[in-house]
Amino acid sequence: GIPRKPGMSRDDLISTNAKIVTMVTRSIMEHSKNPIIIVVSNPLDVMTYAVYKASGLPKSRVFGMAGILDTARYRAFLSMALDVSGKDIQAMLLGGHGDTMVPLPRYTTVSGIPVTELIGKEELEAIVERTKKGGGELVKLMGTSAWYAPGAAAAQMVASIVRDEKRIFPCCALLEGEYGQDGIFLGVPVKLGKEGINQLLELKLNEEEMADMKHAANAVRVHEPRHVRHHHVALWRQLALVAHLPRQPEGRALSLIHLCRCRRSTLTRSLCPPLLPPIPQQQHTATALPLYPPY
Ligand code: 2OP
Repeated sequence: GIPRKPGMSRDDLISTNAKIVTMVTRSIMEHSKNPIIIVVSNPLDVMTYAVYKASGLPKSRVFGMAGILDTARYRAFLSMALDVSGKDIQAMLLGGHGDTMVPLPRYTTVSGIPVTELIGKEELEAIVERTKKGGGELVKLMGTSAWYAPGAAAAQMVASIVRDEKRIFPCCALLEGEYGQDGIFLGVPVKLGKEGINQLLELKLNEEEMADMKHAANAVRVHEPRHVRHHHVALWRQLALVAHLPRQPEGRALSLIHLCRCRRSTLTRSLCPPLLPPIPQQQHTATALPLYPPY
């Protein structure tokens, strides 16, 4: 979908991007056999739902990228506040990709030390608030936030799938009863392997966290709209990321199909930030994919 511009919220993109992702999804389904689709368009939780509906794929094969990006921002702010390497910060975050996201201080550690032992409540709350608005902060500063970090985050998900690494990431996944929610896509911890989502992990939330999760779900539900159900499509622009899993385990592992006719380079650039080796536009093998450092 198109990214937001300064002054826009993610939700302002809803009708334009619902048309785009529906169109792209149909094309994916026409040209691909049993794909896994990682959605990267905003508003993320609603667009992931739109792709799920339009594709008819099982829930394990359609999910969205947001939590890795949001936890990266959370970890970066914590690393600055604590003056420690971001590499040692482990964090989990739930909820929607927006102001209702739910960073979880209880599940945040620095080399195994609970973060709450290292930082005061107020400072931590300020970091959580800054994380929630992190995308907007970048849009104001740079005119866009759809650049290095979203590409690198999606690439980590692809790597875990293609190599069957079974890494646990916060991703936008369909909830069917988990966390007290049904029939909605929201950010939760999932295990990613060669079949897509291998497992959805349900954390035991306290009352406050559960209330935040409910608030996040309500914010997404507002947009369960006609846009998502209407499958008429007018626009034809970028981009969804499609990982074709190997038909033979050692064979060709991944091809990225860029189903947009505008700017072929956009996907490549977004997936291959300047510090990483470029991914060829044609088919390539799993071993050609670089390992992404945690950031
Ligand atoms: C972000 O948070 C683009 O929504 C994306 O930067």
